[in-house]
Amino acid sequence: MKEHTVTVTDNRTGEQIELPVKHPTHGPYAVDIGRLFRDAGYFTYDPGFLSTASCQSTLTYLDGDNGELLYRGYPIEQLAEKSSFTEVAYLMLYGELPEKEPLKKFNDVIIKHSMLNESLSSLFGGFYHDAHPMAIMVGVVGSLSAFYHDSTDISNASHREIAAHRMIAKMPTIAAASYKHSIGEPQVYPDNSLSYTGNLLRMMFSVPCEPYKVDPVAEKALDLIFILHIDHEQNASTSTVRLAGSSGANPFACIASGIAALWGPAHGGANEAVLSMLDEIGHVDNIPEFLARAKDKNDPFRLMGFGHRVYKNYDPRAKIIRQMCYDVLEKLDDKDDPTFELALKLEEIALNDEYFIQRNLYPNVDFYSGLIYKALGIPTNMFTVMFAIARTVGWVAQWTEMIAEENQRIGRPRQIYVGPEKRDYVEIDKRQ
Ligand code: CMC
Repeated sequence: MKEHTVTVTDNRTGEQIELPVKHPTHGPYAVDIGRLFRDAGYFTYDPGFLSTASCQSTLTYLDGDNGELLYRGYPIEQLAEKSSFTEVAYLMLYGELPEKEPLKKFNDVIIKHSMLNESLSSLFGGFYHDAHPMAIMVGVVGSLSAFYHDSTDISNASHREIAAHRMIAKMPTIAAASYKHSIGEPQVYPDNSLSYTGNLLRMMFSVPCEPYKVDPVAEKALDLIFILHIDHEQNASTSTVRLAGSSGANPFACIASGIAALWGPAHGGANEAVLSMLDEIGHVDNIPEFLARAKDKNDPFRLMGFGHRVYKNYDPRAKIIRQMCYDVLEKLDDKDDPTFELALKLEEIALNDEYFIQRNLYPNVDFYSGLIYKALGIPTNMFTVMFAIARTVGWVAQWTEMIAEENQRIGRPRQIYVGPEKRDYVEIDKRQ
């Protein structure tokens, strides 16, 4: 990697500190501060990591100013139009688009791993009857290492690969079983003749006593949404997976930690929160009241599905999914759905509002994904689970990349201590 240096002057002491600056393929130069503490005795401070690159990665590039997203160099628009979820999963794991035979082999491997160990299936019954499916996901995925010991040696490349395949393959089965448990229906075994998303739909919506035909509109829509959600560089859940992985934890535990981080409403939980918010708004006439609340600094309410840490112009995924939202609702003859109408009105009003314009707050991918899920009949509490299925590919690819790195070290941030100064212990009867 090309480098130059930057010299920083300490205005307190007059000392000059020279730091290397790394040149990435795309994106801003990065000052390498790795030796700053050792050489100059300083920490850097960046809560929320607004200016901090936590790693080097070959997977995903996003340009927030120009609304650009690349997976392994390929623009998301091209992959969304021409590729499929499993083909993009292959690209993320192995670095190149596959030819026909390797793709077929990869699909076969994923299909072969889609069943769950039977004792694992019985685990679902132990959860409370109305448990949130994301709570079940965190628990069940975390338990995978108790069933698949033969793929937990992180120093073994073939263990790492099998663990990656297993997680990508089993995530739809676990997701569907979580849902089935929450509605009191029997789990449905995977069907190896179906596509990745066709299989998921069947496991979620079929019952053993009736025939089920996968709806091709729903199958295609899910495949596209999943492509859009595969990876998004060092977001909160991916950084969580990397940090957990840096300690040497097994891959299943690391992905479970990613699922937990994804659940929050500021991250993957936003798609569920958008629908809850639209329900709460209820009618177009109430939009001004909710917009006023979103702008009020004393009110914790935020317009869910708006804003992004990196995209300050537009979210390229939102552009694709917005169009898809129209297409799907049209095909499903659902265009007059009042929630969709309300969402479009809210979008229009917010995009013309000074507060949102000034802060570059645009609808993000999750503003629309929930609307499509709703049209496909997916219940609100499964929205974030859908996100987790797709993002599993990104998590395992990021984890694999990190573990394979030479000189990989445990992630261990420092802090600025602002607590009490050093003081002596006071006996209990002398405290005031
Ligand atoms: N509604 C109202 N005001 C907002 C919103 C919002 N959704 N988002 C940001 N702001 C305001 C914020 O109050 C701040 O205003 P001011 O400068 O006056 O203090 C300004 O915009 C900058 O916001 P921030 O909190 O500094 O931005 P951030 O980069 O830390 O947060 C975010 C990004 C996505 C967490 C935030 O925009 C948000 O909470 N959005 C709603 C939740 C959401 O849709 N999340 C999904 C993100 S996309 C899926 C994913 O990748 O996970």
